[in-house]
Amino acid sequence: MKVGVIGLGYVGLPLAVAFAEEGHEVVGLDVDARRLEALGQGRSYVEDIPDETLAPLTGRLHPTSSYADLASCHAVIVCVPTPLTNSREPDLTYLVDSATALSQVLQPEQLVVLESTTYPGTTRERLRPILEESGMAAGRDFHLAYSPERIDPGRTDYTVRTTPKLIGGLTERCAERARELYAEICDEVVVLSSPETAELAKLLENIFRSVNIALVNELAQLCDRLGIDVWEVVDAASTKPFGFMRFDPGPGMGGHCLPVDPFYLAFKAREHDFYPEFIELAGKINQSQPHFCVERIDRALNDVAKPVKGSRILILGVGYKAGVGDTRESPAIKIIRGLQELGGEVSYHDPHVPSLPAVGLESADLGAVLGDADAVAIVTAHPGIDYERVVAEAPLVIDFRGVTRGISAANLVRL
Ligand SMILES: NC(=O)c1ccc[n+]([C@@H]2O[C@H](COP(=O)([O-])OP(=O)(O)OC[C@H]3O[C@@H](n4cnc5c(N)ncnc54)[C@H](O)[C@@H]3O)[C@@H](O)[C@H]2O)c1
Repeated sequence: MKVGVIGLGYVGLPLAVAFAEEGHEVVGLDVDARRLEALGQGRSYVEDIPDETLAPLTGRLHPTSSYADLASCHAVIVCVPTPLTNSREPDLTYLVDSATALSQVLQPEQLVVLESTTYPGTTRERLRPILEESGMAAGRDFHLAYSPERIDPGRTDYTVRTTPKLIGGLTERCAERARELYAEICDEVVVLSSPETAELAKLLENIFRSVNIALVNELAQLCDRLGIDVWEVVDAASTKPFGFMRFDPGPGMGGHCLPVDPFYLAFKAREHDFYPEFIELAGKINQSQPHFCVERIDRALNDVAKPVKGSRILILGVGYKAGVGDTRESPAIKIIRGLQELGGEVSYHDPHVPSLPAVGLESADLGAVLGDADAVAIVTAHPGIDYERVVAEAPLVIDFRGVTRGISAANLVRL
């Protein structure tokens, strides 16, 4: 089989690799020349795909910027970004651009699958008409389906193969074609009744996380008032073997998915005069969490008779989650900006993020700055950092991730 993948990012590249590893020819299309150049040289820019994984695939994985190369593919999978506009509404520009270019090379009998996360109705109402500008009809001349990506960057216990794949086809035949495609790389394929069901199922998964993270983040703020250790509370509740699912508090939600996707559904709901309050409330609490962290750092410094202004504050970890260098929507950026606005001299250390142009900083050498800092705030708990040493050497440590549980020290403050 020959498979085309449009958008070789965190979602598209692992997918392209999965098909190539199964022996299929893969045309990987992107508009980012640097990414194409890296792939051409066998260099990966996605943490989950080491260079060694790419090396044996060079003959089968063909990076390109030319949509014409997709004409010979049996199936084309679209994995372009679906961010929000500045006014927090769905920004489908990337999808519209890629679909428009694809419509010009679309072939009879081809299968097109959208994997980008989006609101219910996008595949049918937005993608279909653009592809039909080719003069062909979806469900008759070509096939169209939606299949959400469920990848969790940095995760190793579940892979593309072992995570069940949801599919919603425009017609039964479309769904069957998509099922055959994904059966090549996934152990379990679940066929749903429509693209809309699959689109909404993905949003439910992410909203479920967003709401539960908001719940523990709010609890963390309350525990701070009550003087109760939120981590001990969460640990205790987690001993219940049924009816409770653990979520950890933290500095706020980041990444391309959780802070963004729920608003796709809120947008769609508003079109139908419906206001989903859980989504908005969870978003509000999670977005306020970095501000709470700034205030907590301020208070911790105050307790040792230091103002934020002029204090040297080291942020440990700026990726949006442990083990990844993705800083999109990372709460660390909001925390750094908040501290800078108060006059703090902020630096950061992150082994995965050499520079952070959003705040004009470069990653500092941990050993060199640790003893020099007035305070260290653990914002992202990357593996491989010696947190005992951090607590031993820094005069004040504020831990927003609970990684210092088990350490007791007078200079240690936990969320
Ligand atoms: N990152 C995740 O963990 C994750 C998980 C599940 C779903 N998703 C969803 O998958 C989609 C892609 O996310 P991502 O994290 O892979 O994004 P990404 O930014 O890492 O990758 C997207 C790629 O698409 C390319 N691109 C943009 N416009 C293009 C065009 N017109 N033609 C060809 N290529 C184009 C970009 O250059 C980029 O390389 C989003 O809808 C996201 O919500 C992401």
